[in-house]
Amino acid sequence: MAKKVLQPDTALYPCPVVLVSVTDSKGRANCMTASWCGIVCSNPPLISVSIRPKRLTGEMIKEVREFVINIPRTSLVKEVDLAGILSGRSIDKFKRLNLTILNASKIKSPIIKECPVNIECKLIEIKPLGSHEMFIGEVVAVQADEELLDKEERIDYKRADPFVYNQGEYFSLFERIGHYGFSNETHPPQNFGG
Ligand SMILES: Cc1cc2nc3c(=O)[nH]c(=O)nc-3n(C[C@H](O)[C@H](O)[C@H](O)COP(=O)(O)O)c2cc1C
Repeated sequence: MAKKVLQPDTALYPCPVVLVSVTDSKGRANCMTASWCGIVCSNPPLISVSIRPKRLTGEMIKEVREFVINIPRTSLVKEVDLAGILSGRSIDKFKRLNLTILNASKIKSPIIKECPVNIECKLIEIKPLGSHEMFIGEVVAVQADEELLDKEERIDYKRADPFVYNQGEYFSLFERIGHYGFSNETHPPQNFGG
């Protein structure tokens, strides 16, 4: 089949969906949804998340130089969508979304109990790139629900039931489960996030 050359675009698929959580120096916790997130190095284990400068979460990470990448289940898709529409500048997202804060093991920022996998990171670098700043974190610990672990302590991601984001829509690993903004049909957002 012939190929067609399209405009340059970040046409990567699939994109993960995560909740980035952080506590500032006054002990105030916040979280936001992010899809521009990925592994950038295996050893040392490095994960990046790219955040637009106006987000509160990015400001908080700059202050405390740490963050947690939490991987949500499909059953949390509505909360995740809301965490990507609402800003912690005006509400306490943990209260509004009924998410439970637990202690991380190596950093002060909180992990989210309802997310089966939680990746604790210390910030090592911020790269201003244009629309986004890339926050690179070194993974200092991973927490996972015990029931997901096999004998070798590997995480069974099928049972973790994560989901992905593509062109404004959420997909479980098998079927479409929602779309950007579907949790708030009365005030639909004007763009696809990111
Ligand atoms: C599915 C989805 C993915 C998103 N991905 C990103 C992202 O990678 N980077 C970003 O800066 N914002 C992203 N957003 C938008 C932020 O989550 C949103 O602006 C949030 O309200 C910021 O909250 P805060 O001000 O409390 O930090 C995404 C939103 C959704 C719904």
